[in-house]
Amino acid sequence: MTLTRTRDSISSEEARTLRERFVPKGLSVGTPIVVARASGAEVWDPEGKRYLDFVAGIGALNLGHQHPEIVAAVREQLEKYGHVSAQVVTYEPYVRLAQELDRIYPRTEGRTNATKSVFANSGAESVENAMKIARVATGREWIVAFQNSFHGRTYAAMTATGKTKNSRMPFMRTTSPNVAHLPYPYPYRTLGGTDPEEIADLYVRLFEQALDTHLAPEHVAAVIVEPIQGEGGFVVPPQRFLKRIAAICRRHDIVFIADEIQTGMARTGRMFAIEHAGVMPDLLITSKSLGAGYPIGAVTGRAELFDALPPGSLGSTFGGHPIGCVAALKTIEIIERDGIAARATAIGETLRARFDAMAKTHPVIGEARGLGAMQAIELVQDRATKKPAAQQVDAAIKRAAERGLLLLRAGLYSNVIRTLVPLTITDAQLEEGLDIMEEVIDG
Ligand SMILES: Cc1ncc(COP(=O)(O)O)c(C=O)c1O
Repeated sequence: MTLTRTRDSISSEEARTLRERFVPKGLSVGTPIVVARASGAEVWDPEGKRYLDFVAGIGALNLGHQHPEIVAAVREQLEKYGHVSAQVVTYEPYVRLAQELDRIYPRTEGRTNATKSVFANSGAESVENAMKIARVATGREWIVAFQNSFHGRTYAAMTATGKTKNSRMPFMRTTSPNVAHLPYPYPYRTLGGTDPEEIADLYVRLFEQALDTHLAPEHVAAVIVEPIQGEGGFVVPPQRFLKRIAAICRRHDIVFIADEIQTGMARTGRMFAIEHAGVMPDLLITSKSLGAGYPIGAVTGRAELFDALPPGSLGSTFGGHPIGCVAALKTIEIIERDGIAARATAIGETLRARFDAMAKTHPVIGEARGLGAMQAIELVQDRATKKPAAQQVDAAIKRAAERGLLLLRAGLYSNVIRTLVPLTITDAQLEEGLDIMEEVIDG
């Protein structure tokens, strides 16, 4: 086949051939779909086939593809100036976004802490920054993360990642030092306890035991936690667990970092998922939907932590690019103005009701779970043994793609189908996608 270079005329087959030849297999791809155009909750391939999108760029498009106001804000900024670098000059979108993140920061009742923000290009890079800030501000070396977590693929972020298969295993000999992983409550596969309180208390005991034994609190700079594990399979811990871990951190002056890269920006029915637990993090990490599809990551948190870092110790050439900042400013405005968090709650209720109903007639569904519009189903070969059904997940995703629906897997055992639908999806689109899910669920 002759490979054409004309961007607009490439066929799906040509694009896949180019990928096969020029892109490493280390960057795996979940579906064979090639995208030529996108809008809202829909994408089209070069041949004009339409797909519903229940993945939203891995949770980066809570406002959907090509939201007209985001596109307009970006276009307006493009006309003024593009890259200038926050390390060289000051520009309004950067400082306004820092101001806005301070305004919407998840503060628990009565707390008035001032915050500051630094911006990066991605989620992983923001995680790196949070780890640097916590270590320098506390003068301590250890970071505690959780088993089955995902924090990104750069070196320190990868080391904090506790889901080792694929993303971490090939690099096991060369991860960065002084990161410990403690058990995270996974109620469906819990080590013990039957109700949420008991489960929370068991995992808090395991945490405290680690601090009493191999991890002296005076050496722990930070605890980094996803309020809901995303890549880990939409594992929702009891809120009491997050509350108690945050309290332990406060007692020992350990920086409590909430990684809200996947859970943030209204996905769970609140602007930030940590609000469900009533916990104010010391540092908050956002990315993905913060920029509504444009690259930006942020670390926001207690001003005095940032102030401990000397000039020149943070930053990158492109970090906080004006395009990402204006997209983020518009995102916050739209989420608040259009009641997107409430819409996430309603979407979540629809998803959960359908998943619960499906579970009655499809024994392959071991559990339907989630919070707000962060809903998933975990597939098992047998409900009694809970043996993971990863192959059924792959088969279901493949069949869904053939029928016009984009789905994505997750989970420790790759046996979870997660839904990250754009929060701007219509009810009809939501039902249409759920109908396809039901058709393909048995693999
Ligand atoms: C919770 C969490 N943290 C960090 C990351 C890494 O973000 P990025 O892929 O932008 O580096 C992800 C990405 O999926 C994530 O879900």
